[in-house]
Amino acid sequence: MKDHKSILAVLIIFLAAGPGRGAGLPLYKDPKAAPAARAADLLGRMTVEEKFGQLQQLDGLWEGNYREEHLKLAREGKLGSTLNVRTAPFANKLQKEAVEGSRLGIPVLFAFDVIHGYRTIFPVPLGESAQWDPALAEQAASVAAEEAYSVGLKWTFAPMVDIARDPRWGRIVEGSGEDPYLGSKLAAARVRGFQGADFGAPGKVLACAKHWAGYGAAEAGRDYNNTDISESSLRNIYFPPFKAAADAGAATFMTAFNDLNGLPSTANKRNLAGVLRGEWGFKGFVVSDYTSVKELIAHGLAADDGDAAVKALSAGVDMEMVSALYRETGPAALAAGRLSAADLDASVLRVLEAKFRAGIFEHPYIDPALEAATLKTPEKLRLALAAALKSLVLLKNENALLPLDPKIGKVAVIGALADSRADMLGSWSADGKPADAVTLLEGVKASVSPATEVVFSSGAFAGAADEDLAKAVAAAAGADVIIAAVGETFDMSGEAASRVSLSLPGRQLELLERLKKTGHPVAAVVFNGRPLELGWLQENLPAVLEAWQPGLQGGLAVAQTLFGKANPGGKLPVTFPRSVGQVPIYYAHRNTGRPPNPKEKYSSKYIDSSFEPLYPFGYGLSYSSFAYSGLEVSPPAIKPGGKVRVSFEVKNVSRRAGDEVAQVYIKDEAGSETRPVRELKGFQRLALAPGESRRLTFELGPEELGWHYTGGFAVEPGGFKVYAGSSSVGGLEASFKVEP
Ligand code: GLC
Repeated sequence: MKDHKSILAVLIIFLAAGPGRGAGLPLYKDPKAAPAARAADLLGRMTVEEKFGQLQQLDGLWEGNYREEHLKLAREGKLGSTLNVRTAPFANKLQKEAVEGSRLGIPVLFAFDVIHGYRTIFPVPLGESAQWDPALAEQAASVAAEEAYSVGLKWTFAPMVDIARDPRWGRIVEGSGEDPYLGSKLAAARVRGFQGADFGAPGKVLACAKHWAGYGAAEAGRDYNNTDISESSLRNIYFPPFKAAADAGAATFMTAFNDLNGLPSTANKRNLAGVLRGEWGFKGFVVSDYTSVKELIAHGLAADDGDAAVKALSAGVDMEMVSALYRETGPAALAAGRLSAADLDASVLRVLEAKFRAGIFEHPYIDPALEAATLKTPEKLRLALAAALKSLVLLKNENALLPLDPKIGKVAVIGALADSRADMLGSWSADGKPADAVTLLEGVKASVSPATEVVFSSGAFAGAADEDLAKAVAAAAGADVIIAAVGETFDMSGEAASRVSLSLPGRQLELLERLKKTGHPVAAVVFNGRPLELGWLQENLPAVLEAWQPGLQGGLAVAQTLFGKANPGGKLPVTFPRSVGQVPIYYAHRNTGRPPNPKEKYSSKYIDSSFEPLYPFGYGLSYSSFAYSGLEVSPPAIKPGGKVRVSFEVKNVSRRAGDEVAQVYIKDEAGSETRPVRELKGFQRLALAPGESRRLTFELGPEELGWHYTGGFAVEPGGFKVYAGSSSVGGLEASFKVEP
């Protein structure tokens, strides 16, 4: 019966295609026909092997070339997509085999991990999230797409939208941190940047929301580990950024490696068919993660290759990345009735329709001249500098040590990370070249007066020996200020880079202790891909600047900020714990029946540490100072479907222009289920001149006030509090009621 349905569906689409085609030209070759009709027509012409071939993605060589065996597969119509094949000579050669050498001429879809830039590398996504500036994130994604397109790519495996609340997990660097609201705004912005209004246009690529779903909740922060997530947390924390990406029109999703509550994400029909396609109406296609179909065997879900292929494809995973179980075992499973033709055809249709919409049937090749004209233009580098500047978060600035005087006599720059190009790029740096990066040392030299003496000593990073530390201390002798660069190398976070410790690796802390003993003021710059334990720095140094891995222009951005050419305005997108023992720790926690109270023995706290984080979500200082006043919430009562207007004033009460990220939080005080003590529901980064004040207004309706309860999404009657301020702690407070 199902087969008749799919044939009927194809027929209906076919007839809907209507007249207007050249005589004899197959419908699927008609650029004027609707993508769905073209896909249906093409599907009807394909053999079973060709269908499974379209669901196969294979890995090129890291340098960008295809593998020799790909040429034959492309000619046979058995290669739907590749990852890592890029630049005109390689992509066009492989494409020619598919388009001109195969029976149906279906082009290959070229993909690559363009996560925070292709050649112009922007701050790592966690650093970009610290900008709290979705428009800027969209611009950066648009530049990344333009550069990726210029080397023959048409699909990026980004944005990564996994919520992460465990900094031991190395991939926290790739996402937007701990909060679903901030994460959702950035997910949508990045999708818009990559795809534009039409991802088939030149300079645009298909986006891919990943990793669906719950990957960031890996137990113990250990990558690829199992996740046990309640329905409430799935719906209210982990799903929202994916929903935002889908609503923004993301062309594809990627399934995750994790076992989610006993059902691996790569075979999770409930999430794929039930939520993504059923509830959200997602029309794009889904790709597995790298060999995650094959890994269903290791998970203990599939008995063998054939079983894994059937379970993944039947669950709704359309394309298989790198493992080849669909192609190798699919035809037999289809013939044996273990796989339905309807499922197979549905997946192939989704892939074909995306290819038609991508425009690669009409434009399968890339102009070799485009790359040189597109990559790393001055305008793109200026944007990369602006992005790095806005990503920086000032964590401490005692007695206004910063900004430093560019005419200062002697500056000692200490720490290997200050002279490392690769570590400015961070993980997943695509075809970013360390040689293109500006180091902090170079940035300092470019930011001080010609008369300023700048000395450097590496301190040898993690493997420091006593003499390395001694040399560093000696170099700092007589300095008016020491700029100490500490943190992690680019490969200490990212995929398969989880840590049990959040301390500064190696003897960096000892280096800082020795530098402090010199008596010269020490400004610490932290380069890292995750929250680290910075308690000693907070206690013992006058200034701490969080720089993440700030991209090609990162060293210059940090130096311009240290010497006052720029004013830091970033805010933390993730909580910084005092110690790893507090993890998971995040601001939007539930209150417990015994909220932490240092004065109450029997309350939810520790006997050996404060329960407070070191730096809270949303925190960040500036060289300016800002005051909040006049919080008004109206009307004082609404119905569940109503909206309240929240307004307040932010004033720059300093003599220096600067950015502030004003934040709005709510607290639903009581309901049928408990909710977090605060939930971010609005923010705006604004630039204010000295003395300037601005009245901000935010409207909070069901989307902001609601919650996914066991009975479904609702705004429940009762009291709500509203907070407006410069972080997730404190701020102005008001309240309103939702009346039944
Ligand atoms: C990796 C990652 C995924 C990436 C893919 C292709 O294992 O999990 O994020 O897009 O493989 O490189």
